[in-house]
Amino acid sequence: MLKDTVRTRSYMNAILQNSFLFKGKTAGAKHVYAIECSSIAEQARQIVADNGYADSVTIVQGKAEEVTLPVDKVDIIISEWMGYFLLYESMLDTVIYARDKWLAPGGLVFPDTCRLLVTAIEDGDYRRDKIDFWDNV
Ligand SMILES: C[S@@+](CC[C@H](N)C(=O)[O-])C[C@H]1O[C@@H](n2cnc3c(N)ncnc32)[C@H](O)[C@@H]1O
Repeated sequence: MLKDTVRTRSYMNAILQNSFLFKGKTAGAKHVYAIECSSIAEQARQIVADNGYADSVTIVQGKAEEVTLPVDKVDIIISEWMGYFLLYESMLDTVIYARDKWLAPGGLVFPDTCRLLVTAIEDGDYRRDKIDFWDNV
């Protein structure tokens, strides 16, 4: 996923082009709490340290629904929760949980708007392989 530069740059641009929203906030300039449940958290912690941000970025390993943060509220929540067809991976519930638990009044969620574009297609090869197959087994 980290090789997906279109996706990752979209997040980078959203932050950089709205830097006035982040300045001094608990989400970027002042302090970042990054929650990740898998062991990639260890690499993230190392990358943060190697780049000299260990004092301002804290990696918290665990499920968002289970971890304890050293603060009660944050100003901004950023999450890359979107899966195939937007909702696959079921991470939206986690973001909503985090929002309800930690987001300060008037705080921001990035992204806060999504569009689902749907079109009908016919894939004849797929249909022949998976469905027409049963016409003559
Ligand atoms: C869609 S991936 C995005 C990964 C990374 N942010 C990136 O941009 O490459 C979602 C990440 O959230 C983690 N994750 C999923 N559910 C979680 C939860 N309930 N609490 C904490 N992390 C979770 C997964 O382990 C995965 O690394």
